[in-house]
Amino acid sequence: RNMSAKGRYQIYVTRSDMPESGVQLLKDQCDVNLWNQPSPVPRAELLKEVAGVNGIYCSLTDKIDTELLDAAGPSLKVVATISVGHDHIDVAECKKRGVRIGYTPDVLTDATAELTLALLLATSRRVPEAIHEAKTGGWVSWAPTWMTGPGLAGATVGIVGFGRIGQAVARRVKAFNTERIIYFNRSHRPEEKETGAVKVSFDELLTPSDFVICCAALVPETKEIFNKEAFEKMKDTAIFVNTSRGGTVDQDALIEALKTHKIRAAGLDVTSPEPLPLDNPLFKLSNCVVLPHIGSATIEARNTMSELTARNILAALHGTDMPAELK
Ligand code: DGY
Repeated sequence: RNMSAKGRYQIYVTRSDMPESGVQLLKDQCDVNLWNQPSPVPRAELLKEVAGVNGIYCSLTDKIDTELLDAAGPSLKVVATISVGHDHIDVAECKKRGVRIGYTPDVLTDATAELTLALLLATSRRVPEAIHEAKTGGWVSWAPTWMTGPGLAGATVGIVGFGRIGQAVARRVKAFNTERIIYFNRSHRPEEKETGAVKVSFDELLTPSDFVICCAALVPETKEIFNKEAFEKMKDTAIFVNTSRGGTVDQDALIEALKTHKIRAAGLDVTSPEPLPLDNPLFKLSNCVVLPHIGSATIEARNTMSELTARNILAALHGTDMPAELK
């Protein structure tokens, strides 16, 4: 089955609640089959439903691997994910089969950078802890050293991964009158000029940074780059923030570093696994702020991401340039 009897393309969408803006674009031109629930489609169901489709609209919770591609079969022309991250997709295997890949860079950069700043401030200024104190009687009077934390003004900020999001974080952080911004990235980025950020090695970043922010894509070279040795090299007053992927961190090493105050605090929008089990030690640490992977969750970004995902699928099916193809 390549097209239905009516000559329309067959698309599978892996969530019932994908933003309507994109789903509607697809429905105008294709037969669209949506998983009937807002929760991730169970693997067995997914494997069954993709058989014979021409396009898959997926998210980062759907693993696109050999098994899935086999289940879809040769009719599959395109996989489009509503994410900029693509560590859930076997890119090489897709290439081999001529399946094009769509993703959503740029449109979520501002949203993710904003959330990174929210996490930076929530962690340094201990916002969740302070709210808890205010509500539970800990607020006995104004107190000179109570609930204090380090400010961004005058601080050295280290950004690991200086792509679109890392750079957007640098621009925002600079507005807080930081002393110095340094970054670690595979290649030199000319965009550094705008913020005065300076490229350094990973170790040169860890040692002097008051704030260490991870904005790096999860690839083999960044897998658990934040390990025991890395946390040991950080200042014991350092704050670690991660808005990329949980897989960039050895989470047990992070828990240990937080427990032993090897570093001051951590703010995480991403963990391993996701969702993080309720009994995970990270939830019990007062110096850790955990958010449920909401980096790109502005209304605007999610609508635009959905439209871009749909436009990626339609362009691939029509054999034209995709607005955001992963090459
Ligand atoms: C992404 O796009 O990769 C985020 O993790 C979800 O928006």
